[in-house]
Amino acid sequence: MNTLVVYATKHGTTGKCASMLEKKLEGKVQLHNLKEGKAPQLDQYSKVIIGGSIYAGRIQKEVSEFCSQNINELKNKKLGLFICCMSDDNIDKQLTDSFPQELLNCSIAKEGFGGELLLSKMNFFERFIIKMVSKAKVKEKGNDSKVDINKDNSMILHQNIEKFAGSINNA
Ligand SMILES: Cc1cc2nc3c(=O)[nH]c(=O)nc-3n(C[C@H](O)[C@H](O)[C@H](O)COP(=O)(O)O)c2cc1C
Repeated sequence: MNTLVVYATKHGTTGKCASMLEKKLEGKVQLHNLKEGKAPQLDQYSKVIIGGSIYAGRIQKEVSEFCSQNINELKNKKLGLFICCMSDDNIDKQLTDSFPQELLNCSIAKEGFGGELLLSKMNFFERFIIKMVSKAKVKEKGNDSKVDINKDNSMILHQNIEKFAGSINNA
C-alpha cells in the first residue's frame, strides 16, 4: 500500500518528524514538502498523512490550501493528521484549529508530535517573540516552563510518532 506524507516546515522540525514517521511506516512511503512545490497526484496513494507546524496559533497556509483543494479526495483516503508545536496544552484544540473538521472526523490518526525551538535558525523578530512568550509562561506557570533562549530546545514526542505510525500501519 502506498503512503504519501505531505508537510510544511519553517525551521525543519516538521520535516524531521515526517522522516522519523516514514521509517516507522510499512510499505512504500513518499515524503513531500509542500513548500517545495505541488504535491503529487493523490490517486496512486491509499494512505495520506498531512503535517504542519504552528506559528502564532496557525498552521502553514500551504497545509490549509492542500487540505481545501483536495478535500473530497482526502475524505476517501486512510488519513493521518499531525502538528508540530511547542505548547502541550490543548493539542485537540490546536488540531481542530489547524485542519478542516470534515478531515478530522474521518482521520485514522491525529496527533501532536511536539516541537523544537531552534534559536540558531530564528531571526531577530522570532527570537523576540519567543523571549516574550517564555517570560509570560514563567509568570503564569513558574520557572519550570522557562525556555533557555541561548540554546536550541527539542521536545519531540517520539512516543506520539510511534503511536501514530502504529494506527496508520493497522488501518
Ligand atoms: C515565532 C514563533 C511562533 C510560534 N508560535 C507557536 C504557537 O503559537 N504555538 C505553539 O505551540 N508553538 C509555537 N511555536 C513553536 C513552533 O511550532 C515549533 O518551533 C515547531 O517545532 C516549528 O516547526 P518547523 O520547524 O517545522 O516549522 C512558535 C515558534 C516561533 C519561532
